[in-house]
Amino acid sequence: MATQQQQEDISVSVVVCIGAGYVGACTFAVIASHCPEYKVIVCDIDEKRIAGWNRAHDGTVPLFEPGLVETIQRAKNENDNLFFTHDVKGAIKESSIIFIAVNTPTKTFGRGAGSAFDMSSWEAVSRTIAAEADSNKIIVEKSTVPVRTAEKVLQILNSAKKNKSVEFQIISNPEFLAEGSAMRDLESPDRVLVGGDQDTPAGRAAVQEICDIYAHWVPQQKIITTNMWTSELAKLASNAFLAQRISSINAISAICEECGGNVEDISRVLGMDDRIGNKYLKASAGFGGSCLKKDVMALVYISESYQLHQVADFFRGIVAINEFQKKRFATRIVESMYGNARGKKIAVLGFSFKKDTGDIRESCAIEIIQVLLNENADIFVFDPKVSKEEILGVFPTVTVVDDVTEAYTGADALVIITEWDIFKTYDYAAIFEVMRKPAFIFDGRNILDNAKLTQLGFSVHSIGMRTWDEPKILL
Ligand code: NAD
Ligand code: UDX
Repeated sequence: MATQQQQEDISVSVVVCIGAGYVGACTFAVIASHCPEYKVIVCDIDEKRIAGWNRAHDGTVPLFEPGLVETIQRAKNENDNLFFTHDVKGAIKESSIIFIAVNTPTKTFGRGAGSAFDMSSWEAVSRTIAAEADSNKIIVEKSTVPVRTAEKVLQILNSAKKNKSVEFQIISNPEFLAEGSAMRDLESPDRVLVGGDQDTPAGRAAVQEICDIYAHWVPQQKIITTNMWTSELAKLASNAFLAQRISSINAISAICEECGGNVEDISRVLGMDDRIGNKYLKASAGFGGSCLKKDVMALVYISESYQLHQVADFFRGIVAINEFQKKRFATRIVESMYGNARGKKIAVLGFSFKKDTGDIRESCAIEIIQVLLNENADIFVFDPKVSKEEILGVFPTVTVVDDVTEAYTGADALVIITEWDIFKTYDYAAIFEVMRKPAFIFDGRNILDNAKLTQLGFSVHSIGMRTWDEPKILL
């Protein structure tokens, strides 16, 4: 007869997530909060990060994401079922389902450098699972991975497994959350995608088991099941379509600046066409974040691998427009200031890749500030959520301020990089008074009122609007 402990072990499904980053922490806090009968363990090799998650009861966590602390606290207080640990091996042993949410950045070396995913963390995790697993497991791809990763992982697992009687089922369950709105996206997702082996009873059962987790709070009609390769590709396709929209509107913004059109109005016009829709059409100084460029470049690599060179060129163009947009904006800052930024004080407002996140990965701030530093400008950075250490880690020679007045007082120019709401609330009349004249504003997010600023005396430059002089006449 089973002991009481054994009976408890059998009745509690242990869901483990390897990788306690944005995706791991946010997704599994939500899963734990909705599924009291599961024990949810989020593990990571980064001890400091795990220690940070274990301080959530104080209201502080390693990554800023609105609503995350509250969700972790709720799961812990109400369900007592969410645990963060750096004991990855122990978590694997205890698990019945293992989600892998480790990072898959772009390779920086060797074959495919600059486009292929670096799958070294993934392979490391697969090997650890193979070595530690002593019971059957469902392995779930939560990270964004190249198409046909599942077959490679299964090969590693099956050939390296220590216990030869253990069986693995692989599932693809890509994550669609966006940072800054992650908790909202997870609480009411547009869809949940579960891909797996649809040809065997064990495969179908594994798919069902993952669907059952989400069915605790996601309506059935939003849970989509597909075959493995569809699911893996759908995630890359989704980010490529999103990135394509921004590059399309940013390409139009470049034309607007030449011809005198207004890209904000064009977005409105396009957005009112039901077939196009109004979301994700905001012109900007360029998209950033850890996913869009990485995932589009992965499609470039995959297309090249299949000898689909024209397809690769199509996706490459999306990223090329983004690089062009960042450069164009930075160059415009220098050119507008009489082609000379040397020694000029420039206040950079925002460093994160978008508002409501402290994440700086691929932020357009990096490219833009680099151009200004190349011109020997004196850069002062203010961001409400990015730490001084992180900014100085990228640019040791800039000045990072906690008080925005220190950034703009005596500055020649104010550059908006991130669309933080607080930037809209500033008293620009007072700011104008303390800036050197002529006072320039470069609004890389089109969040400020151009007409009002111009009235105050600023020389205003925004994206896709020729506000600085008469439109060019095309002959
Ligand atoms: P992240 O860098 O924030 O977190 C990844 C974590 O994995 C890190 O804490 C790291 O220490 C850990 N890790 C790495 N190797 C490990 C190992 N061998 N064992 C245990 N832990 C290990 O990454 P993220 O932003 O959460 O992204 C994770 C994956 O999800 C990526 O594939 C990404 O493309 C995808 N994704 C990210 C987002 C997003 O908005 N950030 C959205 C959807 C999908
Ligand atoms: C993205 C996808 O949205 C998400 O579904 C996927 O899971 C991960 O990648 P994320 O990178 O967190 O999410 O942020 P997102 O809101 O997509 O923004 C990406 C970048 O595009 C940001 O720099 C943002 O400012 C920029 N952007 C977004 C624009 O410039 N214009 C827009 O209209 C929308």
